[in-house]
Amino acid sequence: MIDTQTPVTGDEFFNRSETLKRLLITGRNYALIGLRKSGKTSILYEFEKRLKKPDTIPVHIYLLFSETERSFLTKYAAAVLYSFLERTETAITEPRENLNDLIVKTIERLPALTSDLIAVLNELDKKPDIGIASRILEIPYLLSRHTGNTSIIILDEFQVVQNFNIDMIDLLRQKIQTQRGVYYVVAGSAIGMMQGILTSSASPLFGHFEILSVGSFDYNWSRCFVTTHLHRSGLVIGEKLLNFLIAASGGFPYYLAVLADRIIEYCNTGSIKQVNQKAIIHAFDRDVFDTSGKIFVYFTDSLENTFQRRNIGFHIEILKAIASGSTKQSQIARYTTKMPQELSRPLRFLERTGFVTRNGVEYFMTDPMLKMWLSVAYPLQMELSFIKDGKRLDAFDKKIEEMITTYRRELGKGSESRVRELFRDFGGLELHHTKLPKFTEVEQRVIDGNEFDIVARYGEQYWIAEVKPGNINATDVNRFVEKLDKIVYTIDSTLIVALAGIDTDALRVAEENKIRVWDRDDVNFLMKLCGKFPILL
Ligand SMILES: Nc1ncnc2c1ncn2[C@@H]1O[C@H](COP(=O)(O)OP(=O)(O)OP(=O)(O)O)[C@@H](O)[C@H]1O
Ligand SMILES: [Mg+2]
Repeated sequence: MIDTQTPVTGDEFFNRSETLKRLLITGRNYALIGLRKSGKTSILYEFEKRLKKPDTIPVHIYLLFSETERSFLTKYAAAVLYSFLERTETAITEPRENLNDLIVKTIERLPALTSDLIAVLNELDKKPDIGIASRILEIPYLLSRHTGNTSIIILDEFQVVQNFNIDMIDLLRQKIQTQRGVYYVVAGSAIGMMQGILTSSASPLFGHFEILSVGSFDYNWSRCFVTTHLHRSGLVIGEKLLNFLIAASGGFPYYLAVLADRIIEYCNTGSIKQVNQKAIIHAFDRDVFDTSGKIFVYFTDSLENTFQRRNIGFHIEILKAIASGSTKQSQIARYTTKMPQELSRPLRFLERTGFVTRNGVEYFMTDPMLKMWLSVAYPLQMELSFIKDGKRLDAFDKKIEEMITTYRRELGKGSESRVRELFRDFGGLELHHTKLPKFTEVEQRVIDGNEFDIVARYGEQYWIAEVKPGNINATDVNRFVEKLDKIVYTIDSTLIVALAGIDTDALRVAEENKIRVWDRDDVNFLMKLCGKFPILL
C-alpha cells in the first residue's frame, strides 16, 4: 500500500532535495507554500529528521483548524519546553500536553527562568491577551540565551493564526526582528492567504521569510516515483501508459500516489504483472470520476474550503468555463451568462488561490487533473447521477479511454509536428514577456533545397524555427545560421526549440546571431495553456 493519507518520510519520501538543502541552511526563516496535499508536511518531517546540528533544536508544532488563542499558546509553550527537555534529559516522562509539569521540570534545570515561567502559568489562567502571547513567544529566546542553543520553530498550517483576535503576525515580526537564536519554518496550504501573510508588502512579515514553494514533481521524479512503487509490488508499466499517468497528473505527488496505489491493487487482484490500459481506466474510474474517490473528494473539499463564504456555485462555473477552453473574460462571461465586469473580482481571487494562471488577457487552469475533473469527470457525474451504476461506469470508461487514445495519438505524432501545431494555436499568449503572433500559415517548408521545420507567417513577416529532439551543440546552430543566410523572406524572428537541452557554446552562438532559444519547459508552458499534453521526452 502506498501511503496517501499521511505525510511520508524515509523510503517513501521522494525528490525535494533542493527545498531540503535550503531549509538545512539554518539561521533564517522559511515559509513553505503549496496547494493542499502538495507535500508540505512531508518536507517538514524529513527536514526535522535530517537536521543533525548538535546545538539546534527543532520544535514541531502542528496547528489545527479549530485552534483557539489559548490552545495555540499552550501548545506552543509546551512544545518548546518539551523539545528543550528532550535534549537535556535521557528520558522525559511528562506528556507533551502537560504544560504545568513541563514548566516545573524546566525550572529545575534552569532556575534563572523561574519568574518568567511562573508568570506564564499565572497569566494563562486569564483570558489570553497580547501580553501573555508576547511572554510565551519569548520562551524560546529565553532558552536560547541561557543555553546557547538555537531553536527552529516549525509551524504547520500557519495560516490558522490569522483567525485569532490577537495579532500574532505582528507579534512574531517584533520577535523575529529584535531577537536572535530562534528561527521559524512555517507551512500553509491556503496559498492566497499564506502569500498575503508573507509576501504582500502590507504584511508585517513581509521580507522576513524566504518563500519556498512546494509544487509538482518534474518529469523524471514523477517517473521515478511511479516506477519505484510499481517495482516494489513486482509490476512493470509501458512507456505510453506511464507518460499518460504523468501528463494527466501534472506530476502532483498526491495524484500519482493515489493512482499508483489503485493500479497496484487492481493488478494484484487480477494477478497481472504488466500494467495495462484497463488498470489505468479502473484507477481513474474509482479515484477521479467516482464521488467517493480520493481525488474526487480532494477536489470537492479543496473547492469548498477555498470558497467558504464566497459564492461557490459561481466560482465553480467560472472554473468550468476555463477548464473547458473559455479563456478570455468575454468568453467566460458568455459561458457563465454574466457580464464581463462581474468576473473581474472572482477571477482575481481564483488567480490568488493558484487554481488559475493568467497569461496576458487569458486564463488557464494550473492543474491538469483539476482541469480534467472540472471539464469531464464532474459534469459527467452530475449528468449521470440518476443512472444506474453499471451504465455510469461504462460512460466513465468510455471517456477515460477516449482521453488515453487522444494522448496516444498525440504521442504518435512526434515532437516536431506537435510543436508545429502549437505554433498554430499560441497566438496572443505571452512567453518571457513577449506577446506571440497569431500566424496565418505554419508549415514545414523546403527553401532553396534547405528544409525548415517551421516556417510561420503573419502578415508579411516570418518566424523561422528549428525543432531539435536531441541535445544541441554549436555546430547545429551554425548550420541553422547558414541555412537562414540564404532566405530572402522578411524575417521577424528566428528560433531554436531545444527539447533536450543545449550546450553553452551553442547558446552563445545563438545569442550572437540573435536567434531565440526555447527549451522544453517553455514549450510545455505553452502546451499547457493551449490545452495540450506536454512533450515529455
Ligand atoms: N515528497 C514526497 N514523496 C512521496 N510522496 C509524497 C511526497 N509529498 C507528498 N506525497 C504524497 O502526498 C500525500 C500528502 O502529503 P503531505 O501530507 O505531506 O502534504 P501537505 O501539503 O502537508 O498536505 P495538507 O495540505 O493536507 O497538509 C502523501 O501522503 C503522499 O502520498
Ligand atoms: Mg500538511
